[in-house]
Amino acid sequence: MKNLENISCGSLTKKEVGSVIKLCGWIHRRRDHGGVIFFDLRDESGVVQVVYNPDDEDSFALAESCRNEYVISVEGKVRERPDGTVNPEMDTGEIEVVGSSLEILNSSLPTPFQLDEYASVGEETRLRYRFLDLRREEMQKNLRLRSKTSKCVRDYLEANEFIEIETPLLTKATPEGARDYLVPSRTYPGSFFALPQSPQLFKQTLMASGFQRYYQFARCFRDEDLRADRQPEFTQIDLECSFVTSQNIKDLVTELLKEVFSQILGVKLGKFPEMTYAEAIAKFGTDKPDLRNPLILEDVSELFINTEFKVFKEPANSQDARIACMRVPGGEELTRKQIDDYTDFVSNFGAKGLAYIRVEDPKKGKEGLQSPIIKFLEDDIVKVLLKQVGATKGDIIFFGAGPKKIVNDSLAALRVELGKDLNLLNKDWAPCWITDFPMFELNASGEITPLHHPFTSPKCTEEELKTDPLNCLSNAYDVVLNGLELGGGSVRIHDHEMLSSVLQVLGIDKKESEEKFGFLLSALQHGCPPHAGLAIGYDRLIMLLTSSESIRDVIAFPKTQTASCLLTDAPGQASLEQLEELKIVVDEDD
Ligand code: AMO
Ligand code: AMP
Repeated sequence: MKNLENISCGSLTKKEVGSVIKLCGWIHRRRDHGGVIFFDLRDESGVVQVVYNPDDEDSFALAESCRNEYVISVEGKVRERPDGTVNPEMDTGEIEVVGSSLEILNSSLPTPFQLDEYASVGEETRLRYRFLDLRREEMQKNLRLRSKTSKCVRDYLEANEFIEIETPLLTKATPEGARDYLVPSRTYPGSFFALPQSPQLFKQTLMASGFQRYYQFARCFRDEDLRADRQPEFTQIDLECSFVTSQNIKDLVTELLKEVFSQILGVKLGKFPEMTYAEAIAKFGTDKPDLRNPLILEDVSELFINTEFKVFKEPANSQDARIACMRVPGGEELTRKQIDDYTDFVSNFGAKGLAYIRVEDPKKGKEGLQSPIIKFLEDDIVKVLLKQVGATKGDIIFFGAGPKKIVNDSLAALRVELGKDLNLLNKDWAPCWITDFPMFELNASGEITPLHHPFTSPKCTEEELKTDPLNCLSNAYDVVLNGLELGGGSVRIHDHEMLSSVLQVLGIDKKESEEKFGFLLSALQHGCPPHAGLAIGYDRLIMLLTSSESIRDVIAFPKTQTASCLLTDAPGQASLEQLEELKIVVDEDD
């Protein structure tokens, strides 16, 4: 008879039948079957059934006192399950352990939610009792996959001669566009460190220092509005290389992602098609298109320049507006109620309506169409329209007309919604690269701001930059997977003159730039090589790999939507002594 010490629950098989073994774990589920007690004993490897019979009085009495989530140590003999009791649902369902001794290593209070079966629990409770939530199989799997993925990424980058360098967390503001988290300095009262929004300034400095291939699993901090794919504290796979082109970075990251998907999921990611920002906006209304969805926007502004239909005439003749339509095969079957719901849906994005045409029989021209706007549309326009969008029997064509941003946002969102509702997604994975972003955009206050960050190199001359900044394109690229912006980067400005011009366009004067990132400006002037890089959102990568809906499901201890931690109750009050030391006075009225 074999005596196996410290074997794991989930690894037991028929091979161990007859062996006496010792197991440690949690009582996943306890069942009292009139005189026999069953435990499903769980450790990190899985679950196995342990049985206690009343003939062993001491152990049986102890077993009776055990409850779910008690931590126990068990000794017993493995046996095949009796006929009719094999459980094909369980990996260890062919065997069970007949307990001969039992030690309670720790007890557990009743848990605030069930761990032994799927129970829908509010996220607040899950986050408050995160130590219990993390015991659940789904969270165990997610975090284990996260760890495995990080090894895979490191192996790949190290094999490609990247070296990992850590950069400081107590630092100065990084201009990535979000609000900073500040940390007061005790030794310089009134001065503050900022937690990095990214290691951008440092990784560029490292290029000036002669490290030609840098990477880091970098913690980033951004005080911004949170969503399902954003956390105030998150992780990037940050990388930067010297003497490379944008194509080199795109190729490297494409290969890295292919390797990760192959090793972690056994999935072969296909081609990463590339499209410009302008093309993405024109065809999908967004710069993060989900290419699993076959629906495409068609610009039909020109068609309606001379129409008498007022809703379309105005936007067709305005520079800042567009008319786009989306042909949905099979959409003719949508009910009036569904169309009304979609109209309400797009109104959330500011759309004033959602015109549509049902295509019953395109051969019959106008007669074969059904639509509330058809009576306003001229015959010749309708004819060209049907041809342009390739209308076929059974389609519905939706229209968005108005300011570009509203049309793009509303049709992009409608495209996603229809993709889900009509089950249109035609593949599992659809990566792509988006390139040629505008260099600048206007923010809500009408100020020029960088679309990526100020260190991104423009694709134009200094002259063009100064005279027509809003029409300048940049050497930036994003990698998008299934409609999620997974990573972004750019070729950087290594030329001090060019950087000065960009800063001038942004209205950042010498004094301000010296104060904010003087060290990088200085590094650029002391023999800094041309360089480029990118950062992948690591949490988002894990979301995709685990098919998680929320970024919080792939982070062990995440923050809530309002940037607090329910487990630790952070942020918390500072003591009066601490505040005095820091020379900080808190205005209690606020
Ligand atoms: P960027 O700001 O585009 O670029 O960030 C890169 C990637 O990081 C992820 N990300 C986030 N993930 C979770 N929560 C957030 N709040 C959050 N914000 C960003 C996204 C994004 O694509 N320094 C540059 C990179 C470079 O130019 O090399 C940067 O940070 O997946
Ligand atoms: P109205 O003239 O406002 O009654 O609109 C006539 C039709 O056009 C309705 O089906 C509206 O949903 C649609 N419509 C109105 N405004 C827009 C718009 N900006 N974009 C797309 N369709 C619109």
